[in-house]
Amino acid sequence: MSGLRAAITGVQGYVPDYVLTNAELETIVDTNDEWITSRTGIKERRILKGDNVGTSAMGIEAVKGLLEKTGTDPLDIDLVICATVTGDFIFPDTANVISHATGMDNAFGFDLNAACSGFLYALSVGAKMLEGGKHKKVVVIGADKMSSIVDYTDRTTCVIFGDGAGAVLLEPTEDPGVGIIDYIHRSNGAGAEYLYLTAGGSRKPATVDTVMAREHFVTQNGRPVFKAAVSGMSDVVKKIMAANELETDDIRWLVPHQANRRIIETVSRMADFPMEKVMVNIHKYGNTTAGTLPLCLWDYEDQLEKGDNVILTAFGGGFTWGALYLKWAI
Ligand code: ACO
Repeated sequence: MSGLRAAITGVQGYVPDYVLTNAELETIVDTNDEWITSRTGIKERRILKGDNVGTSAMGIEAVKGLLEKTGTDPLDIDLVICATVTGDFIFPDTANVISHATGMDNAFGFDLNAACSGFLYALSVGAKMLEGGKHKKVVVIGADKMSSIVDYTDRTTCVIFGDGAGAVLLEPTEDPGVGIIDYIHRSNGAGAEYLYLTAGGSRKPATVDTVMAREHFVTQNGRPVFKAAVSGMSDVVKKIMAANELETDDIRWLVPHQANRRIIETVSRMADFPMEKVMVNIHKYGNTTAGTLPLCLWDYEDQLEKGDNVILTAFGGGFTWGALYLKWAI
């Protein structure tokens, strides 16, 4: 161990301008504001419009803002990790598209695919790369253009997802009062049957038939995902608290993946957190997959104080899930 710890020293989000409200969704599929609000807590979500713009367009805006805000020279960034399931292309990876567009020319980068847990996984990977002493400034991005893989004729999924991106800067610290302290990550491939996208990969490349069968869109069986998300997140939150001898009173914020307000409320109840300590912005953005956690930190930045104990938790397709414990450093 080098004795170094990785700390988040900057956070920035980006959401597209276009607001897709529940009222507009009522004109697209057979749904209504009451159902969406009571079942998910979502009132509106953002959609990235325009030709030839992908997930990188949002990641670029988030990174530009992050570098400017932290006064960081893009040439000083030595590693970029982009968590996404909606990369611009199958390859090259979106981390490199973003690095090139923002002048992070000395960085190597790669994408990380863990669905809604992607940002959390990427945060711990970035932290460990930095703690090894080899890297000094790491950018971790969570970004998804879910509107590119959502079927707007399927009311069971199209009301849930939105587009957005967030990015954090990781730097080393020797201050024991701040930084990323611990994580627990899990995955279980048995969950693949409940949340997936069938075609467009190597197993079933795109053909006219796959397009006609709408197999390039997300398919979800919501109930089992709901149950696994609740039990998975509450379990790892309790475990990481026990491992670090933390009581609820010691934690300033729980930052859960924004999948569904009812999931968030159930997890906070099972992990014994009052909702005043739980970050929630799902009503504004819906589920932006890898984007939700950095967008929460960005939205709540002015309510975070240096030294605050924060637990992040996520659950996503795969299944993938986890929790991460940090002390806020800004
Ligand atoms: N508007 C109106 N009615 C709807 C809609 C809609 N948008 N969607 C479904 N319904 C109907 C169904 O057809 C069903 O009708 P029926 O009883 O006549 O058959 C009824 O509402 C109930 O459907 P359920 O699927 O049982 O509803 P549920 O209460 O489970 O809520 C939901 C569905 C919101 C999808 C919920 O199961 C959920 O949030 N699951 C977890 C989803 C999630 O977190 N996904 C992200 C995981 S992270 C990642 O990696 C992407």
